[in-house]
Amino acid sequence: MQDVVEWLKANANLKVIDEPLDVELEIPHIAYIEVKKPDSSQLLFTKPINKAKGIEYDMPVLMNIFASKDTTHKIFGKHPDDVAEGIDELLKLKPPKKLIDKLKMVPKLFRLKNVFPRRLDFKGECQEVIIPKEQVDLDKLPILKTWQEDGGAFITMGQVYTQSLDGTMQNLGMYRLQQYDKNRLGMHWQIHKDASHFFDQYQKAGKKMPVSVAIGGDPLYIWCGQAPMPHGMFEMLLYGFVRGTNAQLVKSITNDIYIPRDVDIVIEGFVDPTKLEIEGPFGDHTGYYTLKEPFPVMEVETITMKQNPVYAATVVGKPPLEDKYMGWATERVFLPMLKPMAPDLIDYNMPENGVFHNLILAKMQVHYPAHAKQFMHAFWGVGQMSFVKHAIFVGEDAPALEDYEALTKYILNRLKPENILITQGIVDHLDHSSPKQFEGGKLGVDATGDEVESLDIELLSDKELLAKVQEIVSNVVGLRQYFTDTKNPICVISVEKKKSQLKTIKMLRVLSSFIKVLVIVDSANNDLHNPYMLLWRVVNNIDATRDVKLKEFIAIDGTNKSEVDGFDREWPGDTHCSKKVLDNLQQRGLIDINDEFIKKFGLLPFDE
Ligand SMILES: Cc1cc2nc3c(=O)[nH]c(=O)nc-3n(C[C@H](O)[C@H](O)[C@H](O)COP(=O)(O)O)c2cc1C
Repeated sequence: MQDVVEWLKANANLKVIDEPLDVELEIPHIAYIEVKKPDSSQLLFTKPINKAKGIEYDMPVLMNIFASKDTTHKIFGKHPDDVAEGIDELLKLKPPKKLIDKLKMVPKLFRLKNVFPRRLDFKGECQEVIIPKEQVDLDKLPILKTWQEDGGAFITMGQVYTQSLDGTMQNLGMYRLQQYDKNRLGMHWQIHKDASHFFDQYQKAGKKMPVSVAIGGDPLYIWCGQAPMPHGMFEMLLYGFVRGTNAQLVKSITNDIYIPRDVDIVIEGFVDPTKLEIEGPFGDHTGYYTLKEPFPVMEVETITMKQNPVYAATVVGKPPLEDKYMGWATERVFLPMLKPMAPDLIDYNMPENGVFHNLILAKMQVHYPAHAKQFMHAFWGVGQMSFVKHAIFVGEDAPALEDYEALTKYILNRLKPENILITQGIVDHLDHSSPKQFEGGKLGVDATGDEVESLDIELLSDKELLAKVQEIVSNVVGLRQYFTDTKNPICVISVEKKKSQLKTIKMLRVLSSFIKVLVIVDSANNDLHNPYMLLWRVVNNIDATRDVKLKEFIAIDGTNKSEVDGFDREWPGDTHCSKKVLDNLQQRGLIDINDEFIKKFGLLPFDE
């Protein structure tokens, strides 16, 4: 990572901050604000401290490594579309018939020799320093506490290396790790993830599970850790494929797990499958806290390091975040892997404010009735794509998927209740809106067909419509209409919620000659003039089976849920920065933000 730092200085726009800054909130808040800027930089904090614990760390913290598409592209060394093209070629390989075909295939196959990780039988640079068990002290690492209500400090960019019970499968996953004390970490591998499946095997066999967590090294290891590789495929194969050189792995000192030789820090240990401990809360990339839940615990056996390690970390919360750029590369690279199950898929896009699993847009060629519905089921049935709650399919004549303004118009001009599919399936471990954890509503929109014939409502001004709405429902405080130039204008209202909004929807049905699509949000912490955050809020907050109604108009209840909705899980709070910390950083000239910026990205509650 020392090389990465030099490389970022030369090839990207790394900012070095030499002022002593706290790992609790100060460093994370600065990085969180930086990544929201259009020209965001990587940040190196050279003097991390922990005021509460009285610690001055002897290694720097590097954040926002993937701070832009450009930097992500440079880290890859090629455009992610080019990686996708290589994967596409491989998937389409056919047995050669003639000698010339065989010869043409040679370079392609030759490139594959770089894919397989190489196991070395000597120690790696990451093992220059070996800290024995008795001296292990996680407090020596500048582990961040990113949000004020977090249950503690968390390693946020840990590469978690595990293997199956029989040792035949290896896995690299990026999972956050909570620091409990000097030698124990909470393993937040979610129920659907590969390390969790391995854990189940060890639990059944009653055996301790070895784990090695690496930090730093080539940033591509970090990206590979979050890549949704099919179960059983080691992410280091993808590393070799992208880099064009084999990953070089060395054996951990106290277990049999192999890790890249050149990472900065390795935390080795074992998970006792009989012991779980409460993990969280943690301000997550959904922009909400994930609630307390029991997770496995790793007891650290040893920590190994390079001589001068750099500690890599990220901060998650409300979009946009660093995962926007990692997710962009993932979306591009994985397109060819979706095609075998959805061959007429042209392209797809996961808007960052849909936090990836809450919204997907997909463009396809349509060959037969219900073709889009077939793809919806395919997506909801396979791998990590099955976490997606809302999927919108458009035809090949649709505008570019990332042209959100034009695309929304295209979709709204084709939106009809009969083309909306509401069903159930698995939902992401982090989803907070489904009535039961892990399973919930799915909504698919087939917007591949012809335009709706006419706008069969009378358009009123926002003021006129609000007056009519308030005559019927008194707790509506604001109204704003969007896309009134389409066949399905969207009317967003904000309410001071006291009862279930399904009742409000029923009462407002008499206004069906003025409303085509109604969206309801809470008045607290929602700005009717900020569609970016409104979309973030609504796709986060809804479970389609409960919150979407298709008669007399399309209505969506995007409010927070509670017992008035018959919702008996705990509803989590939003991630908000600490005002005290922001004010202090602003005074010291370490950030430069105004009220508009704070409101735009929901940094503070609106009443603070
Ligand atoms: C910044 C960041 C943090 C993440 N944290 C977690 C986490 O705590 N737990 C988890 O299961 N997945 C987390 N993920 C998603 C996983 O890394 C991703 O689903 C990955 O494909 C899992 O690998 P696996 O399929 O090999 O288990 C995170 C992703 C990112 C980008």
